[in-house]
Amino acid sequence: MKGTQKDSEKLIWDQMRSPSGNPISVSSAPTRALSKLMAFLIIFVSVTYLVYTLKIVSSSHPCSEDPFNAHRHFTQSSSLISNITIVPASQNQNQVALVLREEKSPQNPQQTGLQHIVFGIAASARLWEQRKNYIKLWWRPKEMRGIVWLDKAVKTRRDEGLPQLKISRNTSRFAYKNRQGHRSAIRISRIVSETVRLGMKDVRWFVMGDDDTVFVAENLIRVLSKYDHNQYYYIGSLSESHLQNIYFSYGMAYGGGGFAISYPLAKALEKMQDRCIQRYPGLYGSDDRMQACMAELGVPLTKELGFHQYDVYGNLFGLLAAHPVTPLVSLHHLDVVEPIFPNVTRVEALQRLTVPMKLDSASLMQQSICYDKAKSWTVSVSWGFAVQIFRGIFSPREMEMPSRTFLNWYRRADYTAYAFNTRPVTRNPCQKPFVFYLATARYNYSMKQTVSEYDRHRVPHPECRWKMADPSSIDRVEVYKRPDPFLWHKSPRRNCCRVRPSKKKGSMSIDVGVCSEGEISEI
Ligand SMILES: *[C@@H]1O[C@H](CO)[C@@H](O)[C@H](O)[C@H]1NC(C)=O
Ligand SMILES: *[C@@H]1O[C@H](CO)[C@@H](O)[C@H](O)[C@H]1NC(C)=O
Ligand SMILES: *[C@@H]1O[C@H](CO)[C@@H](O)[C@H](O)[C@H]1NC(C)=O
Ligand SMILES: *[C@@H]1O[C@H](CO)[C@@H](O)[C@H](O)[C@H]1NC(C)=O
Repeated sequence: MKGTQKDSEKLIWDQMRSPSGNPISVSSAPTRALSKLMAFLIIFVSVTYLVYTLKIVSSSHPCSEDPFNAHRHFTQSSSLISNITIVPASQNQNQVALVLREEKSPQNPQQTGLQHIVFGIAASARLWEQRKNYIKLWWRPKEMRGIVWLDKAVKTRRDEGLPQLKISRNTSRFAYKNRQGHRSAIRISRIVSETVRLGMKDVRWFVMGDDDTVFVAENLIRVLSKYDHNQYYYIGSLSESHLQNIYFSYGMAYGGGGFAISYPLAKALEKMQDRCIQRYPGLYGSDDRMQACMAELGVPLTKELGFHQYDVYGNLFGLLAAHPVTPLVSLHHLDVVEPIFPNVTRVEALQRLTVPMKLDSASLMQQSICYDKAKSWTVSVSWGFAVQIFRGIFSPREMEMPSRTFLNWYRRADYTAYAFNTRPVTRNPCQKPFVFYLATARYNYSMKQTVSEYDRHRVPHPECRWKMADPSSIDRVEVYKRPDPFLWHKSPRRNCCRVRPSKKKGSMSIDVGVCSEGEISEI
């Protein structure tokens, strides 16, 4: 991909991660054998890569990822996005504010809130102009604390609504011996210590992320407030890639997906991190250096599946349409994957997602599965993102597996590549899903419900000979749902959905909400 070449520092760092990085010295004879093996591997991988690249280039339209282009689109985006109503009446806005205030529960100052979190964002001057647009999507200047750490100074404008920028300290005294990686890894790993040293008050958690990470702040708080911030906690998630997890660790928080370190642990880390980093000059990245120091501190990773590294290529749809039953905390590698909504830029697509995010963050991307009995269709809702209608009946255990709409980190369609179950994209022409993407979302004050509407993605469907109702008669799906800020105070469970009898032609109405007594996903 064109754009990814521009991203060399980060990409080399992300993509070429290799199993090296052993700090213990190796004798020279095995090293020579190893380097021969490495040379062979590199040639093999290059050839494979070339073959697959050619294949991809020949089978897909060119992607316009020029950073300037993306920026230009961004400035136009407000007019494009204006068709999405957040809340039309001011009355409704109050109601949404009310819902959100409820979430914060002012009676309980003990509870962890946004004010207790300090973000440390890893950025580079070279990609700043483009990447800052991702930060703008989620950053709330008046409510959040945090610093973007850069390698050198960048041009700034006033009132950009961005966090404070700082330049990282010089790290040239630290050794870096990994041949595939980039020494910026040391600088980025030290962001935790450098942020701790600023001595900010009333901090419970330090949360790290990259400049291409988008956080859902309310859900980050929901996850962190489950843990006692006075204890040592290192919270994050793995890579989707089984091989990456083997090369690096199944016990490491992948940095791009973001991770959180409790205050006392960050203090303990700050005291030893510089010494610790010196002991691992052969490691590849910043996050494996972090994990090495966590191992010295004896603190394991607490896994939270809502942090998303997204070490995949192509279309995230399969993953986003079948999110695990846990709050969506972060999205990453947004420059690498296709825009999450079709036919708009990456930033515009994420902007659209902020609409349901504001209405009902707890439920964002939460899946529910139900059936249209009369028509024999399976319906899967990923709230605030997309609805799918399938001809025929798929069981919930199939529907809750992500379909492989994406490629692995080596750009191959390989079902053994992932650290979780996936299902193939259905081959049967009748079972190709009809996908409806979020178009608008609003809060209906009198009904005390969100109304989100999803428009059919108009792509050609193969001919189907089944004698069954054709979902292409549906143009729009309306989903009704009460905001549920306390969804995650209960044990994890998918919401139920029900297909309502629809009055309007060409549209389907669905209710989503807590399952009633005895209600399950069955036909
Ligand atoms: C927004 O709505 C206007 C009028 O309703 C329409 O002309 C325009 O094409 C719409 N834009 C998008 C991006 O849907
Ligand atoms: C970092 O320090 C080294 C040696 O002290 C110096 O040569 C180098 O120019 C410094 N780099 C920056 C970016 O200031
Ligand atoms: C995508 O956008 C272009 C231009 O805005 C438009 O001509 C085209 O019909 C759109 N395609 C789809 C599938 O919406
Ligand atoms: C809210 O829902 C009611 C009942 O369906 C409807 O009559 C009303 O027009 C809706 N209001 C808005 C603002 O959508």
